[in-house]
Amino acid sequence: MSLFFDALVRWQRQHGRHGLPWQGTRDPYLVWLSEIMLQQTQVSTVLAYFDRFVARFPDVQALAAADVEEVLALWSGLGYYSRARHLHRCARQVVERHEGRFPSRAEVLQTLPGIGPSTAAAIAAFCFGERVSILDGNVQRVLTRLQAFEGDLAQVGQVRALWQLAQGLVPPHAAHDDMAAYTQGLMDLGAMVCKRSRPACEICPAQALCEARARQQPTTFPVKTRRLRRRTEQWWLQVVRRADGAVWLEPRPDRGIWSGLYAFPVLASAEAAAQPPQGAEGIGEPIWHEPVHHSLTHRELILQPVEWPVLQHQPSGLGRWVRHVDDLALGLPAPLRVWLRGRLDSEG
Ligand code: ADE
Repeated sequence: MSLFFDALVRWQRQHGRHGLPWQGTRDPYLVWLSEIMLQQTQVSTVLAYFDRFVARFPDVQALAAADVEEVLALWSGLGYYSRARHLHRCARQVVERHEGRFPSRAEVLQTLPGIGPSTAAAIAAFCFGERVSILDGNVQRVLTRLQAFEGDLAQVGQVRALWQLAQGLVPPHAAHDDMAAYTQGLMDLGAMVCKRSRPACEICPAQALCEARARQQPTTFPVKTRRLRRRTEQWWLQVVRRADGAVWLEPRPDRGIWSGLYAFPVLASAEAAAQPPQGAEGIGEPIWHEPVHHSLTHRELILQPVEWPVLQHQPSGLGRWVRHVDDLALGLPAPLRVWLRGRLDSEG
C-alpha cells in the first residue's frame, strides 16, 4: 500500500507548495518555528513574521536567551499567544535539557512544550527523515476519505486507529527526501485539493485510490459526532421607520442573546410579525426584507427584518430613535449594525 505514498510524493514535487522560506532546509529550529506559526495562521500571514522572527532570533540559543516579553512583542498580531509562550519555554528546554539540539524523534519532540504529536511528526519527517505520519485536522480529512474510515473521531480510540492507519501508509524504507515530500504533500493536498466542503476530486492524485470517491461520498468523511449542533431559530425583527428615516431600537433584556445591547423588537412568529406596530399612526405597507443568517455558538439565527413605514409612533417602553450612521456607535449586535449601515443617513 505504498501506491498512495508514491502518488503523493510525485504530486507534491510537481504541484505542491514550494519555495517557502522554511522549505529547502533541514534545520529543525526553522522548521519547528514555522510549524508552530502555521498551526493556526495562514501561510501568507506567516511569511512576514517568520522572516522578522528569524532575523531577530537566528537560532534556538538566541531565542532561549531572550525575554519572553520581546518574544511576545514579535509575535504580536499572529494571535494565540500561548503559542509564543510555549515557543519560548520550548527553546529554553532544548538549550537546557538537550544541549541546544532538537531531538530527532517524534516521540521525544512531543514531550516539549507546544509540540503536539502531529507537529512532532512533521519536524521529525522534514528534518530527520523519520518514517512517521502527521495527522492534523486536514490530514484526518484526507485519510478518512481515502479509506472511507467510518470511525467517529470524537472518540479517542478511533483517532488512535486512524494514526495506525496513517502510519501504515508510510513505507518502512522511505528515503528522507520522500518523507519530506510526502509530509508536505499531505498538508498541501488537504489545503488545496481535499477541501472540506468542495473537494477537487477531479485533480486529486489519489482519485483512483480513494474509497470515498468510489462511493461518490467524499464529504461524508470524516465522521465526528460531537460537533457542535446549532439549533436554528427564526427571529422576526420589527423595524419601525419614521418618515424622517429614523428607526426604533430597544434595549435587550439583561439575560440571554444580545443582553445589554440595543436591537429591534424581536417577534417570535410570522403571525406576530405581520401585525402592525401598536400605537403607530399612518402605517404603510410592511416590507419583508431578505433574511440575515447569523451564527452564535449554540444557535443559528435567521433574522427576518419586517419594516413598517409610519408617520407617528410613540412606543411604550424604553428605547431610542436612530437616524444617522454615527448612532451605530451604540451597542448593537453585529448583524444589525451591518444591516443598518447603508440604510441610515450618512450626512447631516
Ligand atoms: N501548515 C502547517 N505546516 C505547514 C507547512 N509546512 N506548509 C504549509 N502549511 C502548513
